[in-house]
Amino acid sequence: MLVLGIETSCDETAAAVIRDGRAIVSSVISSQIAVHKPFGGVVPELASREHLDKIVPVVTEAFERAQVTQKDIDGIAVTVGPGLVGSLLVGVSYAKAMAYALDIPLVGVNHIEGHIYSVAFENPPIEYPAEALIVSGGHTNIFFIPEPGKYKVVARTRDDAAGEAFDKVAKLLGLGYPGGPIIERLAREGNPKAIPFSIPRMGDGLPDFSFSGLKTAVTKHVRETRLAPVENGGEPSQGIKDLAASFQHVVVESLVRTMERIAREYYPRTLIVAGGVACNGKLREVCREMAKELGLPVYFPSPHLSTDNAAMIAAAGTVKLLAGERSNLDLNADVTLRLQNIDLEEEAARRAGARYRL
Ligand code: KG4
Ligand code: ZN
Repeated sequence: MLVLGIETSCDETAAAVIRDGRAIVSSVISSQIAVHKPFGGVVPELASREHLDKIVPVVTEAFERAQVTQKDIDGIAVTVGPGLVGSLLVGVSYAKAMAYALDIPLVGVNHIEGHIYSVAFENPPIEYPAEALIVSGGHTNIFFIPEPGKYKVVARTRDDAAGEAFDKVAKLLGLGYPGGPIIERLAREGNPKAIPFSIPRMGDGLPDFSFSGLKTAVTKHVRETRLAPVENGGEPSQGIKDLAASFQHVVVESLVRTMERIAREYYPRTLIVAGGVACNGKLREVCREMAKELGLPVYFPSPHLSTDNAAMIAAAGTVKLLAGERSNLDLNADVTLRLQNIDLEEEAARRAGARYRL
């Protein structure tokens, strides 16, 4: 089964041709990093214009590299949300038009579910129940997945996403955009114990994340120690490298200890870590150590599949198409689309005001 995946939810225009949900025949990603770099973050209006410019050449290139034609594909999977509305609409409209013209099935995919399926390549098949940490510039959630297609959010961020914290701290230190890879590189030459930032914990005891307090603590440290931000691409000081390492250490500890706590409570058989921040080598290393201690396999996507791509959307879409799921031509972008589709008992109890026993 050959499926064309299309992804335009944020700042990457991507198309991929996937065979049987597990083999990448082609995967093309046109990144807009250079467009948004001067602004230190994604500018929605510029993003949708770029998608309009790139969608046709990117899909054409995906077919060319796969050495197949439109007639060879069995279905189309497209990201419908969450994301930026103008960006999502480009992919959704294009996919609907193409599915109609070719008279083939179309299915809408949740972007976060796509990230979970990014581990479908280059890893053994997922054993369920699974626990998945999806950590990117827009999301920081842990899902419990009792069986394919069933999702429960067991931890979420109360404020900023982890990737957003990397980006904001990098901006504050004059390091450029996106911040994650730059902070990771500088952290290798810094001391992670230099600044004892505390791991954010929730007053109500829930295993949720919070990264905005950490960002404030970094700002305070910079002000109090009069640490000079890097200017015009200059050489970062040791103080900046120590700060990068200390910040990264706290983010990684917060993510990995929460994963561990949930694993001890829910007994998953596979751990999954995906999303842009999953590129981070330190996060991978600490996660692997934790998983080894628990005796569980942990799957990461290869780095080019960690950030936004269309192969993961096609993989998630293939499962849906095989199950007979179809979207109609009234399919629309859904900016705030949620993935959670099951409510376990204790969640209902928690909502009813019961204290959550840990
Ligand atoms: O998944 P993604 O491409 O887009 C979203 O859906 O947000 O993730 C982008 C995010 C950015 O915030 C970027 O700083 C972060 O992933 N990121 C990293 C690394 N590489 C990318 N964060 C930490 N370490 C990295 N090596
Ligand atoms: Zn993403």
